[in-house]
Amino acid sequence: MRNISEVIVESKYLTALTGAGFSAESGIPTFRDEDGLWEKYRAEDLATPEAFWRDPELVWRWYAWRMEKVFSAEPNEAHRSFAELEKMGILKTVITQNVDDLHERAGNKNIIHLHGRLKILMCTKCGKEFEINSPPKIPPLPRCECDGLLRPGVVWFGEPLPEKDLRKAQEEALKSDVMIVAGTSAIVQPAGSLPLIVKREGGLIIEINPKETAISHIADFKIRMSAVEAMRKIMEEICKLLNEEKS
Ligand code: OAD
Repeated sequence: MRNISEVIVESKYLTALTGAGFSAESGIPTFRDEDGLWEKYRAEDLATPEAFWRDPELVWRWYAWRMEKVFSAEPNEAHRSFAELEKMGILKTVITQNVDDLHERAGNKNIIHLHGRLKILMCTKCGKEFEINSPPKIPPLPRCECDGLLRPGVVWFGEPLPEKDLRKAQEEALKSDVMIVAGTSAIVQPAGSLPLIVKREGGLIIEINPKETAISHIADFKIRMSAVEAMRKIMEEICKLLNEEKS
């Protein structure tokens, strides 16, 4: 932990890539663990444009349930540690695959949402976006002023990622001399390949995940702990290091 904390404090441009595991300790289910969402539901029945147009009410009920969970969840200690690191000027950007808003509610300002946000509803007809704080009551299906059907502002399977956000994330990866990759299986592309960009450019990867993932083989440091446990230990070490520097 001391080594890792030194790497973090001495980094020139630290970024983080987070996934569902980072919010797991806030009570939000992941996708691919034993009790993950894709164990109980089929992605192609719920998270594709085809599924939406086949049965918008089914898809909307599922998203309203997820919105309820996310809106009532609180940021955990790992989210707050990232906010603290950003405030200290160490962490430059959080790139997240999560559609919750726990990074922003913890206090991070520089966040890239690669897979969209549950707080945003988009009109399927005119493209207008709306920000919400509570899930729509289904039925009826939510509609725009133009009468177009509203959909959750998230990226579904088979859809491209928002171009601007993906470009920005790739630029951030290129600039990173250290990237923390936390709570993601790193299976879904292109998010999963951002750590490869960092590595290719000579940067270091710190992985925080209780389990082996698709990027473990390129990680320079592997912390096999939950995000909260790992970040608590890292922050303790960073405090010690900074106090030693002062005295
Ligand atoms: P996954 O469900 O694929 O992976 C979650 C990861 O978090 C796993 O590697 C777990 O071992 C790890 N994990 C579980 N609990 C943890 C904890 N407390 N602390 C740290 N790690 C923990 O979720 P993602 O990698 O985020 O996309 O999945 C990527 C994308 O697949 C999602 O954004 C979503 C999904 O389909 C779309 O919907 C487009």
